[in-house]
Amino acid sequence: MKRLQYLFSPGYIGAMKLDNRLVMAPMGTSSNDYTEGFVLDRTVDFYEERAKGGVGLIICQSSMILVESCAPGRLSIWDDKFIPGLRKIADAVHRHGGKCAMQILHHGKLLTSHRKRMENPEKIIPLAPSAIPWGGKNKEVPIEATREDILRLVRGFAEAAFRAQKAGFDAVEVNGAHGYGIGQFLSPRTNKRNDEYGGNPEKRARFACEIVSAIKDRVGSDFPVIFRMSGSEFIKGGISLDDSLIQAPLIAGAGADALEVSGGVVEMAHITNPCYLHPDAIFSDLAASIKQVVSVPVMVVGKIGDPELAERLIECKKADYIVMGRPLLADPYLPNKAKAGDLDKIRRCIYCNNCWDLTKRSRGLCCTVNPGLLREKEFVLKKTANPRKVLVIGGGLAGIETARTLANRGHQTILCEKDTALGGQWNVASLLKGKDLYARFTQQLCSDLVESGAEVMLGREATVELVRQISPDVVIVATGAVPRNLAVQGADLPHVVQALDVLKGKVEVGEKIVVVGGRSLGMETALMLAEKGKRISIVTERALGQNHHFMERYTLVTLRDRLIQQGVYIYPYSPLEEICDDGVYVLYGSNLLFIKADTVVLAVGVVSQKSVYENIKTAFPGMEVYTIGDSLEARDALEAIREGAEIGRSI
Ligand SMILES: Cc1cc2nc3c(=O)[nH]c(=O)nc-3n(C[C@H](O)[C@H](O)[C@H](O)COP(=O)(O)O)c2cc1C
Ligand code: SF4
Repeated sequence: MKRLQYLFSPGYIGAMKLDNRLVMAPMGTSSNDYTEGFVLDRTVDFYEERAKGGVGLIICQSSMILVESCAPGRLSIWDDKFIPGLRKIADAVHRHGGKCAMQILHHGKLLTSHRKRMENPEKIIPLAPSAIPWGGKNKEVPIEATREDILRLVRGFAEAAFRAQKAGFDAVEVNGAHGYGIGQFLSPRTNKRNDEYGGNPEKRARFACEIVSAIKDRVGSDFPVIFRMSGSEFIKGGISLDDSLIQAPLIAGAGADALEVSGGVVEMAHITNPCYLHPDAIFSDLAASIKQVVSVPVMVVGKIGDPELAERLIECKKADYIVMGRPLLADPYLPNKAKAGDLDKIRRCIYCNNCWDLTKRSRGLCCTVNPGLLREKEFVLKKTANPRKVLVIGGGLAGIETARTLANRGHQTILCEKDTALGGQWNVASLLKGKDLYARFTQQLCSDLVESGAEVMLGREATVELVRQISPDVVIVATGAVPRNLAVQGADLPHVVQALDVLKGKVEVGEKIVVVGGRSLGMETALMLAEKGKRISIVTERALGQNHHFMERYTLVTLRDRLIQQGVYIYPYSPLEEICDDGVYVLYGSNLLFIKADTVVLAVGVVSQKSVYENIKTAFPGMEVYTIGDSLEARDALEAIREGAEIGRSI
């Protein structure tokens, strides 16, 4: 059998011919004009790179159909003035033989919260099928759409699609998924109307069908319309697969040329954007069921980063097209590499969800394994005109990325690591359940390092004497960080251990365990031990998942839910006061609480290792010496790799 023959066979969506069955999912890039939503050049470069990578169809991020429904940082398509910018995207994709669709969206009730961040909040009209309060503590109430409002929204969608067509796009995708405006009409949870737009699944689909058929009327029957839907919202009272099996044929009947099946709803967005803990191809059974009831092509999204898995899904007729989001952030060239059979060369998405981390994203969308994301032009690797001898100290992720970048640019590069293996603490993190892609990432970085021609010295401490012997022009220190201890009474007792040592299997633990620290390492260690049948309590001085800033919210929610399901006791805002022989005291409210434990596991952060940098700086005052990654400031892998990639390009 020819490799990946299904994935790389051409296909049609309506009249649009696609070279292969790989589709890029719509993904907001946080790189647009914040206030009005004009396209900026960085966004164009982002799409151009993905088109070069060989994906058959790119579905561009959501764009706002009406001025009354704008959201900060999102692309706009509500006026002709946006067409020239949008055309730049279409042209860039077409230059490389790709096809592109524009996603069009109305946020519905979600506009109640976006409104606060807008410059002119009074212009925003948060229309929804029903005026049901929603959204955490504040319980915001959207406005129930009248028939006139519905007509205006339907026209808004049709005009937006027409603008996409005028801008040169090959298709549009209507976002009816994830509990946004159209999804709110489709869902019995949010649609409580008793007119012709509410009630049974058919009536709830009326708004979606009117939109699809109005678009078709406006753009002509040859211009394809894709409809994105949540096959199930995975929330009580929300859209079920049974609803979708009724609604999907109606939407296709209204003129949709393809259905894209996703899942989840905005309140359960950790399902829509599954992390490493979720199964692969999480929505493929939904897609397979929907495919049984429609005759148009069915596309499926959701953690399908492996081209061989994608091939199997098409081969066994679960879907006609495979939609990849984050896998194409991680490696825009995934399609071309898969087609060439270079599967090992694909930089796989590890589903860490750092691209969703709002703090990290403030500079634009970013990716742990692809530091060049949204910096496509800036990150083209250029050979150096001035080769130098560079010593990189530390073989964690920051050090490896630095060394391989330098060597690839033509510098004589030596990487020195005191351990006998490369990878540092990332190797320990990779031991956890669901993290095999983390381990694969390190292996890939290591083989890239070997290929780059850098010299690697393992098991060598970087002493001042060694630096003298090597006599480099530049030294880059990436010695990382070590686990922090706690300055509380009892921290030196024998049953107090570090989480990293537990994961490595270096220490024995008892049956009743208190894990101190509520960020990812603490939660993951707690989960691993709970799954082994241990009785676990987590104590943390702030909210679960919070340290200096909150960890990424979808991974946090997934981990939190699993801890709760495993019966782990969680004590947020409960600083550790004292460790005793048989347990710990925490401050719980204004009183002390004693929690029994035979082992206390510390996961309380790390401390930068600065001594190597300081020693070298002192011993060689005239030498160019830098420090990066955790040895500069303890953070996570995304920053470590980014700093390695940046310094590797700057020498
Ligand atoms: C950074 C980011 C932004 C996203 N923005 C959108 C969007 O604008 N519209 C949309 O329908 N889905 C959006 N999504 C969801 C993706 O289209 C996709 O459904 C999700 O990432 C799961 O697919 P994957 O596992 O292949 O990444 C976004 C996802 C990410 C990671
Ligand atoms: S940040 Fe993580 S989840 Fe997002 S694309 Fe990169 S590797 Fe994948």
